Amino acid sequence: MSRRILVTSALPYANGALHIGHMLEYIQTDVWVRYQRLMGNECQWVWADDAHGTPIMLKAQAEGIEPEELIARVKSEHERDIAGFLLSPDNFHTTHSTENRELANLIYERNRDNGNIVRRTIKQLYDREREMFLPDRFVKGICPNCGAADQYGDNCENCSATYDATDLKDPISQVSGTTPELRDSEQLFFALGNFSDMLREWTDSGSLQPEVANKLKEWLEGGLKDWDISRNAPYFGFEIPDAPGKYFYVWLDAPIAYIASHKNLAARTGEDWEASWKPGSDVELYHFIGKDIINFHGLFWPAMLEGAGFRKPTGVFCHGFLTVDNLKMSKSRGTSITIETWLKHLQPEYLRYYFASKLSGSVVDLNMNFDDFITRVNADLVGKVVNIASRCAGFISKRFDGRLATAYPEDMIEDYRHFTSAQSIIMQYYEQREYGKAMREIMLLAEHANTYINDAEPWVKIKDPEQAEAVQQICTIGLNYFRIIATYLSPVLPELASKTEEFLNTTLTLESLEQPLCDHAINRFKPMMTRVEASQIEKVMDETKANADAKKASGSAAGNQDASLEPLKPEIEIDDFDKVDLRVAVITDAQPVEGADKLVQLTLDIGIETRTVFAGIKAAYDPADLIGRRTVMVANLKPRKMRFGLSSGMVLAAGPGGSDLFILTPDDGATAGMRVK
Ligand code: 2FM
Ligand code: ZN
Repeated sequence: MSRRILVTSALPYANGALHIGHMLEYIQTDVWVRYQRLMGNECQWVWADDAHGTPIMLKAQAEGIEPEELIARVKSEHERDIAGFLLSPDNFHTTHSTENRELANLIYERNRDNGNIVRRTIKQLYDREREMFLPDRFVKGICPNCGAADQYGDNCENCSATYDATDLKDPISQVSGTTPELRDSEQLFFALGNFSDMLREWTDSGSLQPEVANKLKEWLEGGLKDWDISRNAPYFGFEIPDAPGKYFYVWLDAPIAYIASHKNLAARTGEDWEASWKPGSDVELYHFIGKDIINFHGLFWPAMLEGAGFRKPTGVFCHGFLTVDNLKMSKSRGTSITIETWLKHLQPEYLRYYFASKLSGSVVDLNMNFDDFITRVNADLVGKVVNIASRCAGFISKRFDGRLATAYPEDMIEDYRHFTSAQSIIMQYYEQREYGKAMREIMLLAEHANTYINDAEPWVKIKDPEQAEAVQQICTIGLNYFRIIATYLSPVLPELASKTEEFLNTTLTLESLEQPLCDHAINRFKPMMTRVEASQIEKVMDETKANADAKKASGSAAGNQDASLEPLKPEIEIDDFDKVDLRVAVITDAQPVEGADKLVQLTLDIGIETRTVFAGIKAAYDPADLIGRRTVMVANLKPRKMRFGLSSGMVLAAGPGGSDLFILTPDDGATAGMRVK
């Protein structure tokens, strides 16, 4: 009996382009879905754009259009990229849909009627100029824990503390640049604590990866807080049925769109979608997500479903982040590559294979290195896989009228079985999302096939008319190996699979591999895949950098409209500035800080003395590259006690943060300890 499976990927926000970081998850999902279909299971992938929330509302305002227009435009761009990367969702819907509104209301109302919604008045930061309450990420101020300036309203990039936006010192609205005020506001909360027992059981059920289960346990032990599911107008989303002027928080209705997308699909297929979402359904349900949204899928989502009488997921498949050369992707370095740019210069299957060759079932980050990328694609796909077909095809079409040998040589059947019996372990690896292991098994087969052809030397035998039959047999064997390999690779390389079907004049299925292909007419071989060249990668990176520069330039030309530029702070007196003692510092040592992803421990020589400073620049710099460089520091900043030690001063850096951060570097001639004025 075949399995019935529903799969989802996280919903991309409808305010920006898809990039290779998104693609990591989508390729992981697509490979799994295609593998399930190859196995004969009924596997549907329901997906959508995440169209609600403040950033989308503000972006539409900035463009002078309605949010509906923005999300429609972005959705069509996302659909173009999805098709371009050969992803095979059964439906790509939107959270801003009738189905989702109705389902969000239903799930909310059932939870409310079951006593899981509470109303409470809380204090929130309000921007008087823009007449709106401010989401946490739209406020910046001084971290209440370590005193670092310019920290967002939810957590500190410097010391990793989490807090409420109302705890920030000297908060500034990032929307208007003004100081927000505290206002009372009634909000609706989801009583997550009502579900502690269920969540504990779900955490222990074995259906989660150990890393994910451990994270959930940590949260459960810390106690579950009520979750604020409402936002005040103005907000782009669904108004809460019994709370006029309040809207569902984007994260309330986003996962509900998994169901809405399924319902929308069912309107076309006529299937009973509701049955799949009832407790006890035998349909398996899996969510592919990144490690940053475990709380939403591991806590809130199962609780909301349970509280509304829906079934819970069978599993949550969590992956790590994509890094490039061990750094976060960065537009200015040219590594935050959009799908549109990629597809202009490179084939999607290169990246599909590269990611597959590095993916596992765990939550670890996946690092991309372009030299490694070029080597793997060229050595494995072009050098090993496609090579098998191109070495055998010519002889068959030119010398044997395009026909494979009438019978498979008896003495090679055992070797054929070696190829077919590898199916079980390869499919097992796909099932476990151990794609890297699956790719290695398949490449072993490809090496085996190449060795066979090398040893058999059909190009030598063809010169001897008496050996013609042997050549036809060798090439038949080679092409049968190729057929098996292309079938095993088909979840990763669907285009190569279709080209193989056309070439071998057959449909690739697992069952048909049981019998080798003989006495069969094949088509003329057309090149299936070309080598990837370093110049193509350069073009991609140059275009990415150029796009980032153009965006910045158009921001400044338009009167500083770049939303990433912070508003100016209030004027100060020269005496205020004079209080700040800025010094040239030589970085004599730089080390990563264990347990702090973002920090680098710097040892700074400022002539008069040596200082230790913890700087949040890890995503932008490899510590080893910093040693020996000169920079500028605030030398008279009161030392701050941090979790990892005392930080005596602050290094100056420019940029929005993360990997886009640049430490200031004085010109040659400035030496340690010189005052910077
Ligand atoms: O983190 C994100 O990009 C969200 N848009 C993912 C939403 S997934 C889901 F729950 F809908
Ligand atoms: Zn802090």
